[in-house]
Amino acid sequence: MTPRARIAPSILSADFARLSDEIARCEAGGADVIHIDVMDGCFVPNLTFGAKVIETVRRLTALPLDVHLMVVEPEKYFDDFARAGATGLTIHAEVAPHMHRQIARIKELGCLAGVAVNPATPLDSVSEIAFDLDLLLIMTVNPGFGGQSFIGAMLDKIRRARALLDASRSSAALEVDGGVARDTIANCWRAGADTFVAGNAVFSAHDPVGEIGELRGRCGVSV
Ligand code: DX5
Ligand code: ZN
Repeated sequence: MTPRARIAPSILSADFARLSDEIARCEAGGADVIHIDVMDGCFVPNLTFGAKVIETVRRLTALPLDVHLMVVEPEKYFDDFARAGATGLTIHAEVAPHMHRQIARIKELGCLAGVAVNPATPLDSVSEIAFDLDLLLIMTVNPGFGGQSFIGAMLDKIRRARALLDASRSSAALEVDGGVARDTIANCWRAGADTFVAGNAVFSAHDPVGEIGELRGRCGVSV
């Protein structure tokens, strides 16, 4: 059976003065997941949200919350974020010297465990642990900001990530994040990704509700 493309709007690009309306639009459009970008001003040059916002979004929707930790020492936040209602916690390979232990701890807390790799980070950094992952996130921009351009050279990395997960018999979701839009999503899908973070493409669209289906439709899957 062909899997369904999963769309994960990133609230980084949402209008926070109308956050509940924005989340309601994601639901109305058939979003599969809400993506929450946590940035610490250290791993990336930008600051965003903490547990309070995760808790707020948790109260606004029953959709899974995919929490992307662009922070150093991510383990400091696992307990608080799990308690706040995160469904999954994704840490960056670049700041995870004890990835095996960190993944185990995320699972112990009842969350799905993900690892993200920056554009310049080789897939080797996750190859030994691929089987244990619930999600592998391929960054298709350098993290820190919404609205950046998709790095086309990452398509080959997505293909190799798909092959790595298959060879490892891993059932992890293969997610892409950064510059995902109408003109880039189909190539990512064909390369083997199944989960698509979209910030600017959804929230800056004329019709954010319709845009979610529009993006999924580009993956050639009728739902
Ligand atoms: C980038 C973040 C992304 C961001 C994507 O550092 O991890 O999740 O919100 O935004 P777009 O879809 O606008 O590139
Ligand atoms: Zn993200």
